[in-house]
Amino acid sequence: MNNQPAIAVKNLSHTFVTEDGKHVEVLKDVSFTVRPGEFFTILGPSGCGKSTLLRVLAGMIKPNHGELLFSDGKTSERLAMIFQSFAIFPWLTVYENVEFGLKMQNVSIHDRRETVHEHIKEMGLTGFEHAYPKDLSGGMRQRVGIARALALNPKILLMDEAFSSLDAFTAERLRKDLLALWSKDRMTIVMVTHLVDEAVEMSDRVLVMTPRPGMVEATIDVSLSRPRDKRSKDFFALVDRANELVKI
Ligand SMILES: Nc1ncnc2c1ncn2[C@@H]1O[C@H](COP(=O)(O)OP(=O)(O)OP(=O)(O)O)[C@@H](O)[C@H]1O
Ligand SMILES: [Mg+2]
Repeated sequence: MNNQPAIAVKNLSHTFVTEDGKHVEVLKDVSFTVRPGEFFTILGPSGCGKSTLLRVLAGMIKPNHGELLFSDGKTSERLAMIFQSFAIFPWLTVYENVEFGLKMQNVSIHDRRETVHEHIKEMGLTGFEHAYPKDLSGGMRQRVGIARALALNPKILLMDEAFSSLDAFTAERLRKDLLALWSKDRMTIVMVTHLVDEAVEMSDRVLVMTPRPGMVEATIDVSLSRPRDKRSKDFFALVDRANELVKI
């Protein structure tokens, strides 16, 4: 069995310097590993550095200190990200948004078509291929973001509060859809959230961050069987434990 972690983060620290020269220490000595196929969640209060940490993993921010290693090297070729706000291109149709990454990777038009249609269908967007984001609901837009990420067939999926700006019903539905996909494909998922319930419902392990500067407060193993019963005593016990660890 391959024991090599999918992602290893070692002593990562990052300080932003703002335009007026102010130093904002955001991440401080953060270390953790994510196992292949694991659903790993980063939980912490607003402003603690979760999005910054995820952007570091995505290679969008180069940290001041520390090491980052993927099973395939210093960067990962097979990584995709779903953003906190509906970061899809407003000037592209649903089809073109889902196609975008594949086009960047020079996938042939024939193969693109098949993959795009498959993921549009999977996310329940069939019939809306030619619609623009402005004509979609919030939930549908987020589905486009998810389809766009999954079309890349990622080995690692990074998700930044992908459900938190949706209404409760849509969010619950999308969480279930994502868990179904994950149980089929078993990609490695790193999800960021500030919702304790969501973390316990979805994850194999939860890393709790301190308020800024974000450090590792604790890591919680969520060994509840799936699908999880959100009304069970064990579920509540873990939610309670996580709630105690999250400092605001
Ligand atoms: N480019 C930047 N320049 C300066 N400061 C930044 C920059 N990006 C983020 N910050 C600051 O870093 C801190 C952490 O921001 P980050 O977005 O990582 O937090 P977060 O945990 O994702 O918060 P939220 O839960 O509200 O999304 C904040 O104080 C923010 O103002
Ligand atoms: Mg954030």
